[in-house]
Amino acid sequence: MSHAHSNILAPSLLAGNHGNLVESARLVESLSLRWLHVDIMDGHFVPNLTFGPGAVAALDKQTGLFLDVHLMLDNPHKFIEPFAQAGADLITVHIEPDYPVGETLQQIRELERFAGLAINPDTPAEAILPHLGAVDLVLVMTVVPGFGGQGFRHDTVPKIAQVAKWRQERGLKFRIEVDGGINEETGNLCREAGADTFVAGTSFFAASDKQAYLRAFPETPQGSPQSMS
Ligand code: DX5
Ligand code: ZN
Repeated sequence: MSHAHSNILAPSLLAGNHGNLVESARLVESLSLRWLHVDIMDGHFVPNLTFGPGAVAALDKQTGLFLDVHLMLDNPHKFIEPFAQAGADLITVHIEPDYPVGETLQQIRELERFAGLAINPDTPAEAILPHLGAVDLVLVMTVVPGFGGQGFRHDTVPKIAQVAKWRQERGLKFRIEVDGGINEETGNLCREAGADTFVAGTSFFAASDKQAYLRAFPETPQGSPQSMS
């Protein structure tokens, strides 16, 4: 299997210190990691609440990390501008809610941010097919979103492989990100299926020996922090 991209490990702030988000972000930076995954939840699309644009703006000001902002919202199109303004580098929206997906992806790119499209475990891969040419990243959810610390859904691995197959067949360059229950072992399964971008919340923040964790995890430390390469 050929990989178009270097591997990126994106720790998820959801498992960090909500009383001091910048401190958790600085820990990520201190390990020479480039990305931070920030989960935005609205209590409707998913049954939980997290952060808003103000938190993203603080992270942007106080760190140099690439901010990978995952919108779990019923109305993501209403929040593209605030998150772009706040300094999100990549904005990922879900395919499931009822809103103009294509226009929203286009708006993200017009605001000069990278555009991501996420798909839940129980949504068939075909749902994202019409948009593959318009995204910089496909996020294949490996749990039903809403909470950290859930078990990896092994039945999502064929979907990763399907998306990777479409990417290759169509000569596209988007990243394939996985999110939920990712650790050294499940991350590897996803990598073998074609994923190159790995969100890890619980496994990252719970690891007492971060250097050992990073050695076991498939990050390839090259490329610039502010790019998708
Ligand atoms: C799940 C979120 C994830 C979450 C992953 O709703 O989208 O980003 O932080 O957490 P872990 O790695 O603990 O499964
Ligand atoms: Zn997420």
